[in-house]
Amino acid sequence: MSESAEPVVEVRGLVKTYGALRAVDGIDLEVRRGEVFSFLGPNGAGKTTTVEILEGLRAPTEGSVRILGKDPRVEDHDLLRRIGIIPQDFRFFEKITPEEGVEYYAGLFGAHVDAPELLRRVELEDRAHARFEVLSGGQKQKLGLALALVNDPELVFLDEPTTGLDPQARRAIWEVIRDLRRRGRTVFLTTHYLEEAQLLSDRVAIIQHGRIIALGTPEEIIAKYGRPEVLEIQGPPALAEVLRRSLPLKVLAEEGRVEVELTSKEDVLRILTEITRSGVPWGSVSTRRDTLEDVFLRLVGPLDEGGGTAAAPLASGGTP
Ligand SMILES: Nc1ncnc2c1ncn2[C@@H]1O[C@H](COP(=O)(O)OP(=O)(O)OP(=O)(O)O)[C@@H](O)[C@H]1O
Ligand SMILES: [Mg+2]
Repeated sequence: MSESAEPVVEVRGLVKTYGALRAVDGIDLEVRRGEVFSFLGPNGAGKTTTVEILEGLRAPTEGSVRILGKDPRVEDHDLLRRIGIIPQDFRFFEKITPEEGVEYYAGLFGAHVDAPELLRRVELEDRAHARFEVLSGGQKQKLGLALALVNDPELVFLDEPTTGLDPQARRAIWEVIRDLRRRGRTVFLTTHYLEEAQLLSDRVAIIQHGRIIALGTPEEIIAKYGRPEVLEIQGPPALAEVLRRSLPLKVLAEEGRVEVELTSKEDVLRILTEITRSGVPWGSVSTRRDTLEDVFLRLVGPLDEGGGTAAAPLASGGTP
């Protein structure tokens, strides 16, 4: 993250209603210059609605939004030049090729762009001359990303840029996002891939039913809501007995393995010493800690539909 603390996105008390539905129900957040900020949440949680309000495409019902210090609802060419957007479900002119599309966008922005180089960055160079209508779903998305980058924006909104991409293509997009971050650009990302969010994001917000239920770095969220790290040892239930008798730690016996909750690194040594001394046979040993996905599933409920089960609000965020 850069030294500058100036927020590039500032949201206060944001509400968006559709009839009786409060799709966005009081969100406060700030995105700092140079960070990758990810917005995570189940289907229907309010991510796209929020992102499109930030992009100036939808009007908020209540609250205030500043993007690079400006109101995105006021038409402003300077602001449009400084931001890049890929909408969820990106569409384009059917008969236009990626190379023509990039050049067309460059013309709109008055930007000089090396179209083949930009298409190479998103791994679309081999389809540079194919019409949009014949591109595969993933190729269309890659074009969306290329177009969002034509004007070399300071702030890029990427709404599910990697959904439906193959693993290699997804990694190519990660590389583009990392490169943006290295160059001090700010990325506002939404994704359903929690592993991706954990890898790429400086901070994430988890949103459910239009409210932020957790906000922080992936590490902070895992530390706050995750379970303690466990040491897993392959071995019989007798091993669990030995450990329960000798150490003040929480021990669980599962099929063919024993799990011990760790309170410090030194616990590992104590555990290994005790099991060696006991003479009970044991096999492989590994440690396991919660991922962002484990924590996410616990917070929003594993069988979430339409914005999630009613989890108690657990963190800072918007509850006006
Ligand atoms: N134009 C609209 N009119 C009425 N309801 C809408 C409109 N747009 C969105 N909604 C509703 O608002 C809620 C939030 O939708 P939104 O698209 O923001 O969710 P999301 O978090 O982006 O979900 P997904 O992960 O599926 O993309 C949903 O219940 C959706 O049906
Ligand atoms: Mg969406």
